[in-house]
Amino acid sequence: MLFQRYSRSAAALFGFLFCVALAAQAQTQPAKLPNVTILATGGTIAGTGATSTTTVGYTAATVGVGALIQAVPEITKVANVTGEQVFQIASENMGNEHWLTLAKRVNVLLAQANVDGIVITHGTDTLEETAYFLNLVVKSKKPVVVVGSMRPSTALSADGPINLYNAVLLAGSQEAVGRGVLVALNDQIQSARDVTKTNTTTADTFKATELGMLGYIQGGKPYFYRSPTRKHTVETEFDVSSLSVLPQVEIAYAHANVGPVAVEALVASGAKGLVHAGVGNGSLPAKVRPALSAARKKGVIIVRSSRVGQGIVARNGEANDDELDFVAGDNLSPQKARILLMLALTKTTNTKDIQKMFGTY
Ligand code: SIN
Repeated sequence: MLFQRYSRSAAALFGFLFCVALAAQAQTQPAKLPNVTILATGGTIAGTGATSTTTVGYTAATVGVGALIQAVPEITKVANVTGEQVFQIASENMGNEHWLTLAKRVNVLLAQANVDGIVITHGTDTLEETAYFLNLVVKSKKPVVVVGSMRPSTALSADGPINLYNAVLLAGSQEAVGRGVLVALNDQIQSARDVTKTNTTTADTFKATELGMLGYIQGGKPYFYRSPTRKHTVETEFDVSSLSVLPQVEIAYAHANVGPVAVEALVASGAKGLVHAGVGNGSLPAKVRPALSAARKKGVIIVRSSRVGQGIVARNGEANDDELDFVAGDNLSPQKARILLMLALTKTTNTKDIQKMFGTY
């Protein structure tokens, strides 16, 4: 009896000590960190100025990816980070060829089991365009976060380090999986499709003015309140894996007193598609309409967009798209309509199918 009681107490004590040991081990063993690859492309986030107060007139794209990572040691606490220098350019020089290279690299990396997410550091001037392009051609649900900064790395209150930290955190998070390509600056999470640069210099420049941001990054955690509803990434029909060039698509900008010169020149240069950044609801000035109609008759695909920056360009609203065989550009900015039209032209020249794509993506 006595022996039995002792052995039961010993077993209970052993069990208790075992649990304590397990709990202690769980506490000392750090949670498995996600693997995030940073693809650096240049921009102000990698820029340097002459002094700490130089916030204009600095040089973009001078700091390499290794130095960018070293400048924010905090990111190693939230992810296992590796870096690759894909380009080192100011983003006004971003071209279709850069996008193809970047998209292919992203798709290769995301197909690897040991990569959980990707951060792309980028100049802010064309950041929204690269993000939207990737949103349409990345073939993975894993997070891809495009990030930049408005102040160079040498400036007082440089926004690059906190933006990079937040971007890595977001790219390694479960919350960001399946949300399409994201843009993270100024503690805010934006959808690649809807976001645009709204101010030439301020740190809060990236906004989806009408449709709103997706969420915040606060206290080391992403908080999502919305998800994109337009199709993206794995849901799209676009595949750039075998492409080395994209169809030439140009933008013609409307304004008071505009004539046909730009449209005619762009068509003569060999454009396969033209986005018309019309006034108001995508209106076509009388002197431009015949040039656009003639271009369409030559086989050029015309998308009616608007320079206004917000709102839907109504099909058959300010122009008879059915009669002219034009495509209405939905609420995409002219620069994003150009991207969708380029990708559409890799699949079809049928304007009805292209119109559907503008309602889908
Ligand atoms: C750039 O777009 O490369 C320069 C401007 C910036 O990154 O803010």
